Amino acid sequence: MIKVVQGDITSLSVDAIVNAANTSLLGGGGVDGAIHRAAGPELLEACKTIGGCPTGKARITPGFRLPAKWVIHTVGPVWRGGGHGEAALLESCYRDSLELGSVNGVQSIAFPGISTGVYAYPKQDAAEIALSVMRQYDARFEAIICCCFSGEDADIYRELAAPGAAS
Ligand code: AR6
Repeated sequence: MIKVVQGDITSLSVDAIVNAANTSLLGGGGVDGAIHRAAGPELLEACKTIGGCPTGKARITPGFRLPAKWVIHTVGPVWRGGGHGEAALLESCYRDSLELGSVNGVQSIAFPGISTGVYAYPKQDAAEIALSVMRQYDARFEAIICCCFSGEDADIYRELAAPGAAS
């Protein structure tokens, strides 16, 4: 089941939360900063051992002090106008995160809007990509959660996820 919730992803009691990271995996601002603060310093230590992650791919660590058992770190594309493969890379972020969750026995997984903050991907287009990949994986999970930080973001997802909305 695909669900839309509004709130702070670090508070969710799910098997895995997804982090909008950068290629270093060594932390940053936005949701990445919030996840590292809530998980504690052990998360940075775990990330240091991974050695980075290419754009469009995902890596998994424990959640440490988070309610979530796992953090799946994915690196979204920086929006550069849309002609630099951004859509395919963003789709790959969702796909690789869901594949990694699936092979690790994750049943419930929550995503922020990858690339839609500092990386400036247009929110509506990003939500369409997110939901189209989530629909392909829906049957493999108990819950795939779109965790929206703002009410405006939640409205975009709710409209697109509503029964009868184009898929
Ligand atoms: N819970 C849920 N969503 C959140 C939270 C939260 N606690 N905090 C922010 N968001 P961003 P990006 C939303 O900028 O665009 C970092 O420095 C936010 O409203 O966190 O992929 C990394 O290290 C937005 O919708 O990630 C990278 O350098 C979404 O999360 C860079 O930012 C993503 O915004 C990645 O940029």
